[in-house]
Amino acid sequence: MGQAAAAPAPSAAAVAPPKWLLAELTYRCPLHCVFCYNPVDYASRPNELDTAQWIDVLRQGRKLGAVQLGFSGGEPLLRDDLEDLVAAGRQLGYYTNLITSGIGLTEQRLRRLTEAGLDHIQLSFQDSSREMNDFLSSTRTFELKSRVAALIKQFHYPMVLNVVLHRYNLDHVGRIIDMALAMGVEYLELANTQYYGWGLVNRAQLMPTAQQLRKAEEVVNEYRERIGNRLRILFVVPDYFESRPKACMNGWGAVFLGVAADGAALPCHAARSIPGLAFPDVRETSLHDIWYASEAFNKFRGDAWMKDTCRTCEDKDRDFGGCRCQALALTGDAANPDPVCGKSAAHGELKQVVVHAHRAQAAGELKPLVFRSDANSRLLS
Ligand code: FES
Repeated sequence: MGQAAAAPAPSAAAVAPPKWLLAELTYRCPLHCVFCYNPVDYASRPNELDTAQWIDVLRQGRKLGAVQLGFSGGEPLLRDDLEDLVAAGRQLGYYTNLITSGIGLTEQRLRRLTEAGLDHIQLSFQDSSREMNDFLSSTRTFELKSRVAALIKQFHYPMVLNVVLHRYNLDHVGRIIDMALAMGVEYLELANTQYYGWGLVNRAQLMPTAQQLRKAEEVVNEYRERIGNRLRILFVVPDYFESRPKACMNGWGAVFLGVAADGAALPCHAARSIPGLAFPDVRETSLHDIWYASEAFNKFRGDAWMKDTCRTCEDKDRDFGGCRCQALALTGDAANPDPVCGKSAAHGELKQVVVHAHRAQAAGELKPLVFRSDANSRLLS
């Protein structure tokens, strides 16, 4: 299916400035997670912005109006200049957030980051058990992550833990919450895998059953009742089990401005999966022009690009037609309604994907998991 005709660019006055700048500092990562959201062809994009280029991006982003600055990757701690970038972000007046696997976060490094003014850390675990954590990331990192969690507490950061859920660990939700309580976590994000990047490659293997999801949600609710505000738990159901789409990125080009390791400006993490869209390089185009005038950021703004199902829908200002990358992945056209929506003509096909995955699981016909690695990235490019 073809792409939608280019939407007319809204006037700069009609477009609000970005609020959230995400700096994906590097695609390098010591882990090999099977659900990583990085593009599967990341290995073909090895050229990273240097320190001065990143600081220029941060300066421009702040001038545009962004207030929240995330450092992610890959693993952002692999950048030796992370402290300098955090300091620059802080001096510019951002609220700075480090999104990390914890690998490389030594006491010395955390001290330097704290002195640089880091505000917030989000640490990821793969599971509550060493075996599953290490299996899913194809590394021996459970003990290390546990030490990092203690360090984060020692330095008095709010403790925010992220665990991606799927068929292999949904049954451990109670143990994951117990682990979080033992670590003194204040905010636990239990986000079921969405199917982008490596998660899409491993979709059939990762797909949970409805029963697993129901049970996990029950467990979460029991804990919520029992422990109250001691630990706040966010439980995000996978899109494929919903019939209303999420307001992905709060709307395309509405609040989020991502800059990838190689300098490409992205309206969402997965935007590179959409063919035919050129993502401007921050070395060549100012963030102002990228945000207000680029085709990539204007393509799915407003509702002029929408097909009738979305344009006439009373929920279009709430969900913005759902997720463009999911529409592309499932229908071949990013301008189609997100098939998660019950009104989408492709909703039945989405449900069939789930049925096929469960059949393959029951018949033992699943392919082996594909771990994120440079070699696999080159194979899949
Ligand atoms: Fe790209 Fe939803 S992930 S629009």
